[in-house]
Amino acid sequence: MTARIASFLDKGGTGKTTSIAHLGVALTQHGHDVLLIDLAGKQGDLAKAFGVWGDVQDAIDADEAWPNISTVFDDAWSTIAEKLGDDAVHDLVYETGEDVDLIPAHPGLDTLDAELGNIDDASERYSRLEAFLDDYVEDLTYDVVLIDLPGMSNNVTYNGLWAARHVLAPVEMGPFEAEQAGALREDLEKIRSNFGIDVELVMVLPNKVDDRTKLSTSQSIAS
Ligand SMILES: Nc1ncnc2c1ncn2[C@@H]1O[C@H](COP(=O)(O)OP(=O)(O)O)[C@@H](O)[C@H]1O
Ligand SMILES: [Mg+2]
Repeated sequence: MTARIASFLDKGGTGKTTSIAHLGVALTQHGHDVLLIDLAGKQGDLAKAFGVWGDVQDAIDADEAWPNISTVFDDAWSTIAEKLGDDAVHDLVYETGEDVDLIPAHPGLDTLDAELGNIDDASERYSRLEAFLDDYVEDLTYDVVLIDLPGMSNNVTYNGLWAARHVLAPVEMGPFEAEQAGALREDLEKIRSNFGIDVELVMVLPNKVDDRTKLSTSQSIAS
């Protein structure tokens, strides 16, 4: 089975996207097949990081970016996928010059949180991405799928956490971030107890460490 990891912290700018990009490339350099999925917003930071945003934007402008990452959350996705056959998933995936593959962001992500909010049943609301990974991405036999999430807790984020079960939290060295990591642990505990699924914080990654500052040395991440 493909390993899945989501990059998440309830805050912007801590290095979620950067970490996912670098981890992806590092894993390919160790011989693994890697797929990145950008759920972090329509600005398409991962596509920009890999220099494919121009192609993605062209497809969007030409109305050819369909299906896209927001389509896979749709009620009708399985019907759409059946009609498109093998192309359904292949059309979503861009190759990058760094050997990792990418399902880039799309403007449809803007309204996705609200659309998911209309699904009454909570386990249905949070499990759309998992269903997509199980039913369509598993067949592509990637070794690792890395999911970049928004810096906030919303229905899209919960789909990512639910699907990945493994969370990587990049934090900067500061008291505020230490609190955020604590809040993330509590969030994950809530998901575990409310829905009976095992979401695990597998890595807290200290980012932008500056040895010259007191915070880096005194603010141990071990807590
Ligand atoms: N280790 C690092 N060293 C220098 N700059 C970094 C580092 N990690 C992230 N950045 C920069 O900080 C900004 C925010 O990082 P980003 O990965 O986009 O955060 P997030 O995805 O959590 O919002 C970006 O401009 C990125 O290039
Ligand atoms: Mg980001």
